[in-house]
Amino acid sequence: MNIVITGVTRGLGRALAEWFIAQGHTVSGCGRSGMVIFELRSTHPEPHNFDAVDVTEPVKVGMWAERILGTHGAPDFLINNAALVNRPSPLWQVPVQEFSKLIDVNIKGVANVIRAFVPAMVEAKRGVIVNLSSGWGRSTSPEVAPYCASKWAIEGLTKALAQELPEGMAAVPLNPGVINTEMLKTCFGESAASYPKAEEWARRAAPFILQLGAKDNGQSLSVPGVPQD
Ligand SMILES: NC(=O)c1ccc[n+]([C@@H]2O[C@H](COP(=O)([O-])OP(=O)(O)OC[C@H]3O[C@@H](n4cnc5c(N)ncnc54)[C@H](OP(=O)(O)O)[C@@H]3O)[C@@H](O)[C@H]2O)c1
Repeated sequence: MNIVITGVTRGLGRALAEWFIAQGHTVSGCGRSGMVIFELRSTHPEPHNFDAVDVTEPVKVGMWAERILGTHGAPDFLINNAALVNRPSPLWQVPVQEFSKLIDVNIKGVANVIRAFVPAMVEAKRGVIVNLSSGWGRSTSPEVAPYCASKWAIEGLTKALAQELPEGMAAVPLNPGVINTEMLKTCFGESAASYPKAEEWARRAAPFILQLGAKDNGQSLSVPGVPQD
C-alpha cells in the first residue's frame, strides 16, 4: 500500500510509519523537525519519502503533495495525524497565539493536506482518509478546551467530507485511545507512563487502519483494545 502520514517525527505517526514500512508498505511522511526527518531518510531510503513540511503552510504542503503524487500516484491511505495540544489551562487563560496555532495545525493543517492530496484520490475513485480524532473529540475535560474544540471540529469536518466523496472511498475520524506520547505527557504528566507505548499501540492500530474501506465511510471509530481514558 501507498500511505501518506503527517507528523511522523515522533509519537503515533512515527510508530505507524515504522510498522507500515516493516510490513512492506510504502510511506511518505512529514513533520517539522528537520533532524528527525533527515534520520528517517537515511534509515528508510526510497521508495519511502520523508520531508520537512509544516502542515500549516498550504503552498509547501501543495508542493510536497505534487512530488509524492508524481512519484507514487494517489495514496491508498492518507493519515492526518499531526496535531498539538494546548498547555493545560482554563480557556480564558489560553494566550491568543497558542489558541491560533493549535487551530492552524489541528484543523486548518488537516484541510491543507486534504486540499493537496484528495483531488488525486477522488480522480482515482479510491482511497481512505483517516483523520486522527480523540476521546476529546467526543467528550470534554477542563483545561483542554482548544484541543477539544479542534477534535470536535475534526469529527464534523471528516463526516461532511465523507458525504462528498465518490462511492468506494472513505473518510473516517479515528480516536486512537490513550497512548504514552509527548502529547499525553503534556496533559497527564507522570501518569502518562501507565498507558501503552506508541509502538505497542501501532501493532493494533496499523492493521485496524489497513482494513478500513468504503463500509466505514463517515463512521466515528476507535482503535480497539486500547485504553480509552
Ligand atoms: N497520545 C494520545 O493519547 C492521543 C489521544 C487522542 C488523540 N491523539 C491524536 O493522535 C495524533 C498523534 O498524537 P501524538 O500523541 O503522537 O502526538 P505527539 O507525540 O506530540 O506527535 C505529534 C506529531 O505531529 C507533528 N506535528 C506537529 N505540528 C506539526 C505541523 N505544524 N506540521 C507537521 N507536523 C506537525 C510533530 O512533529 P514536529 O514537531 O516535528 O512537527 C509530531 O511528529 C494527534 O492527532 C493527537 O491529537 C493522541
